[in-house]
Amino acid sequence: MTTFAYASQPPATVRADVLVLPVFEGPEPGPGVRDVKGVDLVALYRDAALTGKRGEHLLVPNTGNLGVAASSVLLLGVGKKADLKVDDLRRAAGKVARQLVKRASVATTLPQVLGRQPAEAVQAVVEGQILGAYRFDRYKTSSEEGPDRLETFTVLGSPRWDARTVKAAVARAEVVAASVCFTRDLVNTPARDLTPAALAEAARAMAEEVGLEVRIWDERELEEGGFGGILGVGQGSVNPPRLIELAYRGAAASQPPIALTGKGISFDSGGLSIKTSEGMETMKDDMGGAAAVLGAMRAIAVLKPRINVIAAIPSAENMPSGSATRPGDVLRHRGGKTSEVLNTDAEGRLVLADALAYLAEKRPRVILDAATLTGACMVALGEELWGLFTTDRSLGRALLAAGEAAGEPGWELPLHRPYRKLIDSEVADVKNVGKRYGGAITAALFLAEFVGDVPWAHLDIAGPAFTDSAGDYWPKGATGVPVRTLVGYLLEQAKPR
Ligand code: BES
Ligand code: ZN
Ligand code: MN
Repeated sequence: MTTFAYASQPPATVRADVLVLPVFEGPEPGPGVRDVKGVDLVALYRDAALTGKRGEHLLVPNTGNLGVAASSVLLLGVGKKADLKVDDLRRAAGKVARQLVKRASVATTLPQVLGRQPAEAVQAVVEGQILGAYRFDRYKTSSEEGPDRLETFTVLGSPRWDARTVKAAVARAEVVAASVCFTRDLVNTPARDLTPAALAEAARAMAEEVGLEVRIWDERELEEGGFGGILGVGQGSVNPPRLIELAYRGAAASQPPIALTGKGISFDSGGLSIKTSEGMETMKDDMGGAAAVLGAMRAIAVLKPRINVIAAIPSAENMPSGSATRPGDVLRHRGGKTSEVLNTDAEGRLVLADALAYLAEKRPRVILDAATLTGACMVALGEELWGLFTTDRSLGRALLAAGEAAGEPGWELPLHRPYRKLIDSEVADVKNVGKRYGGAITAALFLAEFVGDVPWAHLDIAGPAFTDSAGDYWPKGATGVPVRTLVGYLLEQAKPR
């Protein structure tokens, strides 16, 4: 376990194995570089043919010549000074994290490069360090990488900064990043081990640890409660479905809660409308929305903002078998609406329908859902952006802003009402597929049927929840998107207005 510390002493006096100092494109010295009096670090950097472009780094060992207390200095290119954004700090910290976890102590002036928003900058650097160091190696019996040793990571700020605010940002970053890692672990866990019941037990254990109210609905209780969508999707699997209910109370009981849900398909084979084997390869990730909501609830429970938040997360395994839902079957959802299942691979909307209807009964302020819902959304927006659909302009704006600030950007797609006709059913209230075109929109319109008049936003995270290419602060696999967006949005809602 790494300890994160904050200090505002001169960088040259800091005892650490590695002192990480930023260099702007030029190269131009970043904060702390000029404090190293022993040698001309900028000249050294330039001599190595480096210009300060993002990620260009040079490790300079201290053989007693540098005039600093640290054992070595890592000069880290961060790009053009004028272009720097908060997420660039997260990326810079993440990029070097893997190497630096092999050292016992690291200190950095990185957050000072922005010159303003110290709390945001500090939070981003600490998040980047933790997220960049994340690995999922639970199933590996040997690793070439060797163990992580990082004991202390010290953030060096300016003496002008308010230490209390910045220390709070360090603490917040630790909570948020640990919650993202919690989500990543759930998503990366093979579906063999993370059945709906196992997901529910993981949620229960988390809830008990951080002090959330929790209730797990089993298949009999779901039957009695009229959750026909969750049961219909789960009925082909030997692993029965669950509904995970959580509550966080941080404000007066009279204050309506914010409601969250997420798609928790522990494995999506497509059911009888079976996928290709290639199409199934990553489908253990189809509970990414559920895991992100669990991660966000975990963070909120620890950070304790003055709001109320409830969650109801449906989980089922979508499998083909003699007991599976057939194309043409009609399901009766919570609240009574019926849907005709024409494609059993459009299962996410079926389980979410029940959860949305259930949450709407509780008259929350807003309902948010996150779901790895459609390949169509990936076609529209690619693999990095989540799609936003909403019935409420200001809610949509707040979520897009939260995503941008968290380094998890989304983009709005239209909830185009005229396409509702594409999901008219001959036999039920709605059918679960439209045409091939506009597939993310018809999926969202299906969900919209179940929220009543409660302001609602849907995040289609099929693209960014899981990645086949490692990035600056994420390895291949689960990314934890959109935990940071949800937490940022919720914390913002708790601020007095
Ligand atoms: N879980 C998938 C969506 C998905 C696909 C997520 C690829 C991540 C990567 C979802 O359940 C699904 O199968 N959707 C279908 C809907 C179609 C049958 C209307 C799709 O997108 O093809
Ligand atoms: Zn799915
Ligand atoms: Mn599917």
